[in-house]
Amino acid sequence: MSNEPSIPLTEVRGAPHAAHASAYDAPYRRFIAASLALAIGGGFMLSLLLPLARAEKWAWGSGIRWQALVQAHGQLQLIGFGGLFVMGMSLRLMPRFSGRPLAFRTLVPTLIPAIVTSLVLRSIAEPWGSGATRDVALIASAVLLLVGGIAFTAIIWGTLLHRESRAGATGYYFVLGSIGFCAGAMLNLLQVIEIVRGDLAIAPVSKETAQVFVQQYGFLLMFISGVGGRAVPTFTGAPSRPVASRAAALILGAGVALFAGAMLWMTYRSPSSTAARVGDIGQLLTALAFAMSVWLSGALWPSKNRVAAASQTAFWFVRSAYAWMLAAAVLTAWYGVRAFVDGSLPDTFELDAIRHVLTIGVLTMMVVGMSLLIVPEFAGRRLQHPDERILIWAMIAALNIASALRLWPAVEGINWLTSTRYWPIAAAASLTSGVVIVFATMFVQSYVEQRKPGWGAARSRNAA
Ligand code: HEM
Repeated sequence: MSNEPSIPLTEVRGAPHAAHASAYDAPYRRFIAASLALAIGGGFMLSLLLPLARAEKWAWGSGIRWQALVQAHGQLQLIGFGGLFVMGMSLRLMPRFSGRPLAFRTLVPTLIPAIVTSLVLRSIAEPWGSGATRDVALIASAVLLLVGGIAFTAIIWGTLLHRESRAGATGYYFVLGSIGFCAGAMLNLLQVIEIVRGDLAIAPVSKETAQVFVQQYGFLLMFISGVGGRAVPTFTGAPSRPVASRAAALILGAGVALFAGAMLWMTYRSPSSTAARVGDIGQLLTALAFAMSVWLSGALWPSKNRVAAASQTAFWFVRSAYAWMLAAAVLTAWYGVRAFVDGSLPDTFELDAIRHVLTIGVLTMMVVGMSLLIVPEFAGRRLQHPDERILIWAMIAALNIASALRLWPAVEGINWLTSTRYWPIAAAASLTSGVVIVFATMFVQSYVEQRKPGWGAARSRNAA
């Protein structure tokens, strides 16, 4: 076998509780299964139906229900697909890199039911519900999300803020990310109360934009950057830079606080060019944090990396993700500087462009790529199915093409307002959904195969 680390986020040697730390393994498979079920049955399905409804001029495509379903798509993807995946992996990895056992682990089984119920209620009630039932469902959904966020935060803080934790910069990312989750859930609750009190069809768009930004950058990207910053250098051989890594986490946190704070100020109080410029500085800080993450990962320059021959192809997911993160940094800096000069905020198209570069190019790419590299089912799969390189290349190509297709009409902005702009978006949805379905099938197949009698012996023979 190679010298590739099978789980690169190994336990901290010499940490007082290292042996104890791995005694409990969080049920990461259930988190992955819940994440993929919400993605395939909800978020990605809507990502295809929404543009088709506009391109084909279906009746609901021009009404308020379309907007309500956009909001459902956003929540299902951010909290369901990305969130549950990130939570499952971080619960599994935390004891390994902090050397601490998971704190408050009795809370772990509450997370999936709380979050899945919250998202299902919201996705059904907002577009389809009416009257008191809708109100109760929406409030229950928002409360459940907040309860899930608080439980998750308690686990993270209890584990990583312990004085014997060796989490380092990753701890900064995770603690900030848990604050981002709770802040997003709190904003969500405030908006749901506004929907119920005002009998509104959807959450007010500008407030929703601030909330979605906090959830995406303050929670998801914080965790992705934290895991990536820890795991990817173990593959690329990039030197550890603890001060710069901590600084990148704090810069991302400051960027999120400034942009979301400015947006909220402008919607709840009064719009002004000063507030807008504060928001633009927030955007520029996020661009800086992304550029630093790319540099710290070492993923984009040639090096004598430690990736085993069998994983070299899968590592191109990770390289692609960091290339898209760099693209997001450049786009954000460009839009941020232009808006700063004008005394305005980046417009809806610009925010949509950056958002989807980050969610398809970075998040989806990392979910699939890092799983292939570090999730045990996929490590075993390399022995069972060694000849899958063409399939992996096809998945990498599909996700890269999808990111570009989704970006294209958003970058065109007001120059492309006809309904044809939704065709490349629908094509992007088909490609991304296809990749996620193949990925889910591979996961289930490997899980089933590895439970068959004789699998353990076969693996040992191969390892020898
Ligand atoms: C190829 C896949 C995807 C397609 C085709 C797609 C499509 C769309 C469309 C058409 C919109 C509405 C934009 C508008 O208002 O004009 C939207 C919004 C959004 N998307 Fe996606 N999307 C995809 C993937 C994702 C992923 C993976 C995530 C997150 C992990 C995501 C998160 C969001 C969010 C947060 C919004 C804004 C929701 C809101 O305003 O509340 N999308 N997407």
